[in-house]
Amino acid sequence: MNNPEDARITSGKNMSYWTDTATPAVQNPLKENLETDVVIVGGGLAGLSVAYCLTQSGKKVVLIEDGFIGSGETGRTTAHLVTALDDRYYHLEKLFGDEKTKLIAESHMMAIDFVEQTVKKENIDCGFERVNGYLFRHPSDKIDSLPQELKAALKAGVEIKEVDEAPGMLRVEKALCFLNQAQFHPLKYLNGLCKAIEQKGGKIFTGTHALKINHESITTAEKFTVKAKHIVVATNSPVNNLFTMFEKQYAYRTYVIGALVKKDSLPKALWWDTGDFEDNSKIPPYHYVRIHPYNAQYDLLISGGEDHLTAETGKTKVPEENRYKLLEDWTRNYFPIGEIVYHWSGQVLEPMDGIAFIGRNPLDHDNVYIITGDSGNGMTHCSFAGLLISDLINGKENKWEKLYSPSRFTLKESGAVMQLLTEDLMNVLKKWFYTGSVELSSIKNSEAGIVKLDGKKCGAYRDESGKLYLVSAECTHLKCMVLWNNDEKSWDCPCHGSRFTYEGKVINGPANFDLPAYNENAVLTEPD
Ligand SMILES: Cc1cc2nc3c(=O)[nH]c(=O)nc-3n(C[C@H](O)[C@H](O)[C@H](O)COP(=O)(O)OP(=O)(O)OC[C@H]3O[C@@H](n4cnc5c(N)ncnc54)[C@H](O)[C@@H]3O)c2cc1C
Ligand code: FES
Repeated sequence: MNNPEDARITSGKNMSYWTDTATPAVQNPLKENLETDVVIVGGGLAGLSVAYCLTQSGKKVVLIEDGFIGSGETGRTTAHLVTALDDRYYHLEKLFGDEKTKLIAESHMMAIDFVEQTVKKENIDCGFERVNGYLFRHPSDKIDSLPQELKAALKAGVEIKEVDEAPGMLRVEKALCFLNQAQFHPLKYLNGLCKAIEQKGGKIFTGTHALKINHESITTAEKFTVKAKHIVVATNSPVNNLFTMFEKQYAYRTYVIGALVKKDSLPKALWWDTGDFEDNSKIPPYHYVRIHPYNAQYDLLISGGEDHLTAETGKTKVPEENRYKLLEDWTRNYFPIGEIVYHWSGQVLEPMDGIAFIGRNPLDHDNVYIITGDSGNGMTHCSFAGLLISDLINGKENKWEKLYSPSRFTLKESGAVMQLLTEDLMNVLKKWFYTGSVELSSIKNSEAGIVKLDGKKCGAYRDESGKLYLVSAECTHLKCMVLWNNDEKSWDCPCHGSRFTYEGKVINGPANFDLPAYNENAVLTEPD
């Protein structure tokens, strides 16, 4: 797994601790046409949870993944399994009302229980453990935010209490203690799911890109077809929709460091602040921290945060690669950390109303399903998706169907959608007409920029050895102009979060096609 070729097919150049310490269970490209009950696209936590639940219920399943198992955001997560939701309960209560907020809380509790039971039943060695989680106030948040959250969370049925001091922190902080949360090694959990799926006859294929997806089949880049009665698109950002869903969620980059702390010097726990309300992001970025065993001498303190909209570094304009320093400074302020031994970033999709979209794909045939908009609660949202989607496919009633429906739309959201559409249009115009280009000769080794070649705007990147990579700067989703992310060495789209490697390979949807690659004479080097 330390092979840089592997790192190139994950969602960026940096290697996460999880990817570095687990070998994927399945490596098996599809080389034939198949027919099945259900085909699932995406081998992250969502796809595998759905595949697991369906094979348990006796369905024939084929799962297609274009990287390796967990090579998407599941390999970049921090794997807190929580009922302490990103979008506070007092906020959800206002949006959804008391009864639905209770249902939301219940679904996350069920998801943690489901993972715990699956780990036991399938004997998965993934370090799953129950821990408490501590939510403390960010200095910019309102003074009564914790009492408000306590009241709403209790009303929703969450196990929670107030504490005077969150354990393990350098600064004494009053906090809310969410009981019975959990954590695990996400890729070791996925390996366990793969084994259980295959034992029940499920078929898993990796290194296989689903290029065309419709309600009858998927066709791979190598032109093999899988026909199915049901199609589940679990690609994090759905790659089968050109015009739906992306306007109901925002793509954010988020950053993680892994720092050494003396073995057993900190309690096993989760910690979160309530988010920076002075940041001008749509959602106040917050910090999230956990502990994981590292070696005989040290534990790894895994700290995340410093989020910003993808390809938009916000008011501060701190570029992607400098976010780790901000994160380190924040972490040192609160925790006794030593050397930083890992850093990586990832992408989360923030739904407009705080809860994921799990269910039938809007404006599509009834047998096509999606899972997206998991926010920073993707571990529970994706696990819960396994239970919900398998009920839908098996024709069983499920009381969460409407709540999580990707077609749901509130009046409040429709205003936000109009705002997003306008912002999108402005983004396209601004980037195409006002983002200047540079001379190709001015791009030095390890640098990138937008250049004009024969009238076409292209992204140019010269690697450390001077090798030049030229790709179209036009996102293959809806043609916004991509921008360089020097941290993960990727071209990121500011409109809806599609991302591409420096060679143009698509690594995050909604785009599903690579950026065409050019040579210096502006001639395509690969078929369009
Ligand atoms: C830094 C970070 C920290 C996070 N921390 C937490 C946390 O502590 N707790 C929590 O609950 N959530 C957390 N999240 C969110 C959570 O990790 C994600 O929501 C979750 O992993 C998403 O899983 P997924 O299966 O939907 O997507 P992914 O894991 O991205 O899986 C989608 C898969 O689809 C594949 N794919 C895409 N297109 C195609 C195609 N055309 N053909 C074939 N395959 C395709 C991709 O290669 C990918 O492997 C975090 C996320 C990040 C980035
Ligand atoms: S992601 Fe939609 S235009 Fe790029």
